[in-house]
Amino acid sequence: MKNDLELICNLVRECGKFIKGIDRGHLHIDSKEGRANFVTEYDKQVQERLRTGLLEIMPDAHFVGEEGSTQKFSPVGKFFIVDPIDGTTNFIKDFHISSISVALVVDGEAELGVIYNPYTDEMFTARRGEGAFCNDKRLHVSSEPLENGIVVFGTAPYHEELKEKTFKLAYAYFKKAMDVRRCGSAALDLCSVAAGRAELFFELILSPWDYAAGGLIVREAGGLVSDMDGNELALDRPCSVLARNRVAQVLTCEG
Ligand code: IPD
Ligand code: CA
Ligand code: CA
Repeated sequence: MKNDLELICNLVRECGKFIKGIDRGHLHIDSKEGRANFVTEYDKQVQERLRTGLLEIMPDAHFVGEEGSTQKFSPVGKFFIVDPIDGTTNFIKDFHISSISVALVVDGEAELGVIYNPYTDEMFTARRGEGAFCNDKRLHVSSEPLENGIVVFGTAPYHEELKEKTFKLAYAYFKKAMDVRRCGSAALDLCSVAAGRAELFFELILSPWDYAAGGLIVREAGGLVSDMDGNELALDRPCSVLARNRVAQVLTCEG
C-alpha cells in the first residue's frame, strides 16, 4: 500500500499537470483584498481538487486553503494547510515560477510538507524527523556565510505599508551578500534555502499556506526558521518569515 506522503505527492503532481495544461487564452482574473492581489478561477479549481483528494487520503483531517475554507485552523487535530497556486501573479503572467504547497499539521506541529514546481517537475517533500528531499535527493542547507550567499526575499506585495521597509532590508542584504533574488513564490523561496541554492529568505508578512510546508522543509534540511523576531511561525494567522542556513548573518534595515 502507498503511504500518505506518496499519495499526496501523486495528487499534487496531477494538479501541477492541470496547471501547466490550462488554456491561457481564457484566464478570468478577479481582485482580492490589498494591492495587486489577484485570483483566477484556476486557483479555486485547483484548491477544490486538492481539498477533495486530500480528504479522501485522510478522511479525519480538516482543510484550510487560501481560496476560502469553511474550517478554521485549531492547534488540536489534523489540518491540511494548502496554497493551490503559490505565485499567482507569475501564473497570470505565464512566468513559469509557481508552486502548489500542501502541509499536514497535527496538533499544531507540521508533520508533512509537499511543494511542487510543475515547470521544473521538482517535488520537495519532508516528513518531520526524516529529512527533506527534492524528488529522491536528500536536501541540506548550505554552509556558506552571507558574503558568499544569495538572499531571496518576498516583497509583501499586497501590503503598501511594508514596501519601504522591505526594500531597505533587501538593500542591506544586497550590500553584504553576493546578490538578491525575488522569484514570486514564497514556497519555492523556502525550498531554495532548503536546497542550498540560497542562504537566506525573508518576507515581512506571509500567511500560513505560504510557509507551513516550506518551513518544515527548511528545518528538515537543517536550516533555521522563525518570524523576524525569532518566534515560532504562527499557523493560525499571518506573520513575517525568516529562513536561513546556520551561518548566514541576519541583518536589520540599518545593516
Ligand atoms: C504570494 C507569493 C509571493 C509573496 C506573496 C504571497 P500568492 O502568494 O508567495 O512570492 O511575495 O507575499 O502572497 O498570492 O501568489 O499565493
Ligand atoms: Ca501564496
Ligand atoms: Ca495562492
